[in-house]
Amino acid sequence: MKARSLPTARFLMCRPRHFAVAYTINPWMDPRSWAQQDGALSLQSQKEWTRLYRKLIRLGAEIDLVTPVPGLPDLVFTANAAVVLNGVALLARFRHAERTGEEPHYEAAFRKLQACGFVNAIRKLPDDVVLEGAGDCVWDDTRNLFWMGYGPRSDAAARDAVADTFGTDVVALELVDRRFYHMDTALVPLTGGEVMYVPEAFTPAGLAAIRDRIDPDRRIELTSEDSARFAANAVCLDRALVLSSCTEDLRRRLEERGYRVIATALDSFLRSGGSAFCLTLRLDRSSAAVTARTATAA
Ligand code: ARG
Repeated sequence: MKARSLPTARFLMCRPRHFAVAYTINPWMDPRSWAQQDGALSLQSQKEWTRLYRKLIRLGAEIDLVTPVPGLPDLVFTANAAVVLNGVALLARFRHAERTGEEPHYEAAFRKLQACGFVNAIRKLPDDVVLEGAGDCVWDDTRNLFWMGYGPRSDAAARDAVADTFGTDVVALELVDRRFYHMDTALVPLTGGEVMYVPEAFTPAGLAAIRDRIDPDRRIELTSEDSARFAANAVCLDRALVLSSCTEDLRRRLEERGYRVIATALDSFLRSGGSAFCLTLRLDRSSAAVTARTATAA
């Protein structure tokens, strides 16, 4: 059988040199319990991050790095840096003052990526619109659309900015469970066309919108146990699914569908309300129209 050569996935990540839980901007964050074991947890986060990094490299990914900055512990969550599609990066604007200091550092990282040719254009949101990057704007390759989350962090008005910037469909859904405050904690499209999601994160209208767009046999609804382990915050590369942990039952369901589940503990990041997907940002996504155009040109 001829080996299939896969296009290399490209990610943006940031080493957790200054990572900590230093404030509370989501229900997972408890700075006091972090402070009690600060040294040990900091060491643990470096190890967990390095294991994730190596697993992605082993899966064939190429990874660019943002320089860590003291005083910006959440800079490790690069999914929040921007929405990136077709070589265009729409820079994020953050809801909370604790994270707005990250904006110029992510912008600098994108200027460097642009200088190296990994990004073609950098766009900014309208002044009054908040959108926390791919964390709240998850690309679905199968359906050629963005799943956008709003409420806790991003503004509903960001929908139009995303649609205008990328010219794609954007399904904007309100997030109603504070534990699942970013879309990427609540929903992940898999490469085979399935979508794994946390039902309680959405309103009845949101669930109807999801069920409307995804065939029943492609819906993977998570139990509360898998949801709480952040199983929806997974990175899917070809048939591999990288996540912090999941139940045996979910692993079996995914394996039956032909996925290889790669669990790599990210517990120190879960204390901040983040996991595998949050710690990465895909830079090489493209929409069907652009893919088709490139194929015709080739
Ligand atoms: N502590 C960070 C925050 O609350 C975690 C961000 C996780 N990122 C994500 N894309 N869900 O902002």
